[in-house]
Amino acid sequence: MADFTALFGAPSARPPPRPSAPPPEAAPPSKKRKRQKGKKPAAEPSAAAAPAPAKKSAGDAARAQLAGARFRHINELLYTQGSADSVALFEREPGFFDAYHEGFRLQAARWPVNPVHLVTRWLRAQPETWVVGDLGCGDAELARSVPHRVHSFDLVANNERVTACDIARLPLADRSLDVAVFCLALMGSNYVDFLREARRVLKPRALLKIAEVSSRFANLPAWLAMLDGLGFELLDRDGSNSHFLLFTFRKRAAAPPPSPVAAVPLKPCIYKRR
Ligand SMILES: C[S@@+](CC[C@H](N)C(=O)[O-])C[C@H]1O[C@@H](n2cnc3c(N)ncnc32)[C@H](O)[C@@H]1O
Repeated sequence: MADFTALFGAPSARPPPRPSAPPPEAAPPSKKRKRQKGKKPAAEPSAAAAPAPAKKSAGDAARAQLAGARFRHINELLYTQGSADSVALFEREPGFFDAYHEGFRLQAARWPVNPVHLVTRWLRAQPETWVVGDLGCGDAELARSVPHRVHSFDLVANNERVTACDIARLPLADRSLDVAVFCLALMGSNYVDFLREARRVLKPRALLKIAEVSSRFANLPAWLAMLDGLGFELLDRDGSNSHFLLFTFRKRAAAPPPSPVAAVPLKPCIYKRR
């Protein structure tokens, strides 16, 4: 199982490591040529002609390190504090949201597979009449990539597709969505409130799609039992990916029993200090 550092890794002053497998959209690697005995390898014309990669100045490296440290700090806050505090954080420090997303995009570009692409592929195979909620949408890549009507929500609206809100309190009517998506968005100590809110806005028997980092699940059976208690029936669990788990749940038509459901915490994706 991949640990958090592998996904939300170290600061970007160093060149990114090679991913352990090519992303689905990557071209297949070229075949290696065998070196014949005694023969010197022919010079690679393109390599010989290519300019040496520009060296980072000390200033650039320091800036990259600072940006990495800032990203890690914001990321840690988003995972460990309640969502009301995250709303307040971005109100206080408007620049933090772009800093977080710049860092997130850099991290995601290094992953073998980005789960938002898996969710996109899945959604493209579903009826186009479905109304979708992308809860914790980032920059709304999902809305840009599918033909469906998508309501995209995040703490800050960084483009015109996104509605700013805390997904613990969605500006949507009861029973208005055919599918609710949480793609790496169960952040915050009160993430169970997001699931309850998703249940409110989903139509009866509508779907809940969750993609999360595998290593966040310290006790998966307990977590699945909690989802069941919240009124979600597990339809599919895809663990074929080394880093992420994908789940499809269906909202049960009957309301869950009124007894309170004990929250099962998910581990935050925070990284070791170097
Ligand atoms: C790791 S990013 C993933 C973004 C996008 N779903 C993707 O997969 O590319 C998680 C997003 O969830 C958002 N988020 C976390 N807690 C939230 C909350 N309470 N309300 C709205 N958005 C939230 C964060 O701001 C962040 O943009």
